[in-house]
Amino acid sequence: MKNSMVIFSGNANRPLAQRVCDYLHLPVGAAEIGRFPDGEIDCKVLEDVRGADVYVMQPTCPPVDRHLMELLILIDCLRRASAERITAVVPYFGYARQDRKAEGRVPITAKLVANLITAAGASRALAVDLHAAQIQGFFDIPTDHLFAAPVLIEYFRSLELTEVVVVSPDVGGIKMARAYAKRLAAGLAICDKRRSSPSETEVMHVIGDVNGKNVVLVDDMISTGTTIVEAARACRSHGAKDIYLCATHPVLAGSAAEKIRKAQIKETIVSDTIPVEGKDPGPLRVLSIANLLGEAIRRIHRSESVSSLFV
Ligand code: R5P
Repeated sequence: MKNSMVIFSGNANRPLAQRVCDYLHLPVGAAEIGRFPDGEIDCKVLEDVRGADVYVMQPTCPPVDRHLMELLILIDCLRRASAERITAVVPYFGYARQDRKAEGRVPITAKLVANLITAAGASRALAVDLHAAQIQGFFDIPTDHLFAAPVLIEYFRSLELTEVVVVSPDVGGIKMARAYAKRLAAGLAICDKRRSSPSETEVMHVIGDVNGKNVVLVDDMISTGTTIVEAARACRSHGAKDIYLCATHPVLAGSAAEKIRKAQIKETIVSDTIPVEGKDPGPLRVLSIANLLGEAIRRIHRSESVSSLFV
């Protein structure tokens, strides 16, 4: 393999790709991704990648299907241009919530998308805070799974809050919340959430003590905002003081930003896996994971350990 490393970006989050390239002191790979008159994606790589180690950055955030197709077409393009190794860098991996047959006659889209990325020609994948850790195993190619927690936790440490309780908005998020609580030396509480439809949830109980405490609600993503806003409401009714929302992926679909704005949240803290421009959820802090991604890419390129980034 040529020693060259080239990072390309789809249109989903070019500013993040630029920040990663700044960290690595590289230019973003030259490519044009446009549209044919009928709406199909038109893609051309504008530099020689024969024998190169290439990385394609594209979170599959809304509009999900367009961004996913861009990713697949870019990978196909690079494979046919004889890149030696192609790593799909998917900071936000969409279609992840259907990761099992929770009922009859439903698809497992997380596996389907992993298959599509592999079939397009990716030799490796790199993702951040997958909705469920086992999705890593849905890829039949080596896959590195990064966590935004070090970046988000560092910010909370800088706030020097006292009497903090980290709250998981649902039972599925306990592991993530426990990791935050441990590293912030904070208490832990859990909301017992029941989901009646993709956009409706109800918190039945708050398990743990949030009375008079500063609450940090932690989740992997804020999509419609229903889960985290409902959990905030429950914490407030149980006597919580200030409430912070913390999520890796600010999907902010539909009226999520408005819901958060109305919920009197002290601050919403998210990473830059997905751009949030044009959405106003009230006090917002976007923390960049570009250095983390850049360092992981550097280590993959040099065949060094990635997991040691998190010890
Ligand atoms: C649930 O399993 C996830 O961890 C998130 O809580 C959920 O996907 C967020 O979705 P929404 O913002 O639409 O409630």
